[in-house]
Amino acid sequence: MPTSDDAVFAEIVVDTDSPDETQQLARRLGEALLPGHFVALIGPLGAGKTAFVQGLAAGLKVEGAVTSPTFVLMRLHRGDTPLCHVDAYRLPDASAVEELGLEDWRDDCVIAMEWADTVPEALPRERIEVVLSYRGEGRRIRLRGIGREPAAIVQEMEHYAHTGD
Ligand SMILES: Nc1ncnc2c1ncn2[C@@H]1O[C@H](COP(=O)(O)OP(=O)(O)O)[C@@H](O)[C@H]1O
Ligand SMILES: [Mg+2]
Repeated sequence: MPTSDDAVFAEIVVDTDSPDETQQLARRLGEALLPGHFVALIGPLGAGKTAFVQGLAAGLKVEGAVTSPTFVLMRLHRGDTPLCHVDAYRLPDASAVEELGLEDWRDDCVIAMEWADTVPEALPRERIEVVLSYRGEGRRIRLRGIGREPAAIVQEMEHYAHTGD
């Protein structure tokens, strides 16, 4: 039976002990991303979703400071690979996500969506999930690549995860 692309899956787990370490990891991921890629950030308040997106932004070399888009819902950062930073926290459902008009941006930027798990129907099948959880004073971060390309990107991060370079 043929395997569909979105059945391809890779996961790595990285523990970080500071926001800086989280951002370094995210920066490395950001360097590997291309327009059209979707990053779904999942984890409780304060877990480091925004901190992770700040690292992504550094890797993508976009303009402007990255702050939580909770109140503006969506913020576009220009750059070689533009970053569309979305917060689903205040969006009641997937149709509210649709109304943001993300589809118009999809192919031209990397989309990073905080609280993505609250709008599962709005997520593309192929995506990178970043699942953050508390681990003592630090954080545990799972990077999941769902689909052929995202899985390949996550697999490429494996060396960094083990060695830090
Ligand atoms: N290992 C870590 N990774 C990320 N943030 C951390 C870490 N350790 C402590 N923090 C702190 O946790 C908070 C994360 O905040 P933020 O990124 O806004 O979370 P979220 O967007 O998930 O609500 C920051 O105050 C940051 O300094
Ligand atoms: Mg946040």
